[in-house]
Amino acid sequence: MKGLVEPHGGKLVDRRLDGEDREQALEEVQNLKRLFPGVDILMDAEKIAIGAFSPLEGFMTHRELKEVLETMHLPTGWVWTLPVIFQVDDDTAIPIKEGERVGLWYDEHTPIAILEVEEKYRLDKVWVAEKTFGTVDEAHPGVAKVLQGGDWALAGKIDLIHPVPHPWRDFEFTPQETREIFQKRGWTTVVAFQTRNAPHRAHEYLQRVALEIADGLFVQPILGSKKPGDFDNETIINAYKALIQNYFPENRVFLGGLSTPMRYAGPKEAVFHAIVRKNYGASHFMVGRDHAGVGNYYDPFAAQQIFEEFEDHEIGVQIIKFGYVFYCHACGGLASDKTCGHTDEQRLKISMTKVREMLKRGETPPPEMVRPEVAEVLKEFFHRQVTG
Ligand code: ADX
Repeated sequence: MKGLVEPHGGKLVDRRLDGEDREQALEEVQNLKRLFPGVDILMDAEKIAIGAFSPLEGFMTHRELKEVLETMHLPTGWVWTLPVIFQVDDDTAIPIKEGERVGLWYDEHTPIAILEVEEKYRLDKVWVAEKTFGTVDEAHPGVAKVLQGGDWALAGKIDLIHPVPHPWRDFEFTPQETREIFQKRGWTTVVAFQTRNAPHRAHEYLQRVALEIADGLFVQPILGSKKPGDFDNETIINAYKALIQNYFPENRVFLGGLSTPMRYAGPKEAVFHAIVRKNYGASHFMVGRDHAGVGNYYDPFAAQQIFEEFEDHEIGVQIIKFGYVFYCHACGGLASDKTCGHTDEQRLKISMTKVREMLKRGETPPPEMVRPEVAEVLKEFFHRQVTG
């Protein structure tokens, strides 16, 4: 019987503690130095431990970081394009000794993980930003985060005690769980769709094409932190529920979030997104226009071109590359610059920025841009913002 795609690195990392090991860790963590690194780092610690970031088993050492930034591979040879590092400031870093075990806490009552500090190193933040994002402009949200972070990095393996509390737990699954779900549904080919947005019609077009070529579609919105101006998680989840319930064959679409921050690293993040989705069991991954982009930092198709720098087997997931999708009045439907023979005058551009502007002005975006059921959800978002 055909099975699902193999995880990156050959096997899913699992560093969740259970049973007696967990009991012991719960005792131990009370006596360790306590760090409160914030939810982004905790979410990544959890992603490491549940295997979403396989083959990573911990936050990166300097050698791993250097290889990743300079060669887009880990020292073991596996493709990896984004830093997964734990930045800390002087006050935190200086007292910590290499070899020490420290507790990572969500709040005073909730220990999340134990980090065994294999290495503590000074971070050249400008180098990290430049290599990751291709710019050191602080107006770029990913760059700002790195530059505003601490001057040190703590590296080492993670042991997970408790998943990070957040309100959308019902919509988040481990790679082991999604793999079981896909298998139960009889899916062997699964197209994953990354998003940080509520769905507009261009997104839906990509998803319909996906449903033509694979057994199932896995929509996996980012539930970690995003830049101001992006929709909140509640809106994204409710908007997807509305789309799936009203338009898709429900048993062919699976919705589950990914709690990790958006990095806005364009091409390098597209590779990261593809590999992470492979770990969740996806055989295919969609990359459209300006994937994980922000402002004008990346060519709209750079996130597709980057995959040419790797051998197919290195990525291990098939990349489905889309042209620019819009509504064409002459075609009488959604189309892309790969499929439509008309000119710009006949094309209605679809972008969430445009949709948001219309909603802010109190206008309803046309159904060619956003499904009415989705528009209702988006209206609630703006209503909540106004009424606080
Ligand atoms: S992203 O930061 O997660 O990439 P978004 O949620 O808007 O942003 O996009 C999800 C996916 O849909 C990405 O692969 C993106 O490239 C693709 N996409 C979004 N809008 C379009 C469009 N108009 N044409 C083609 N692809 C698009």
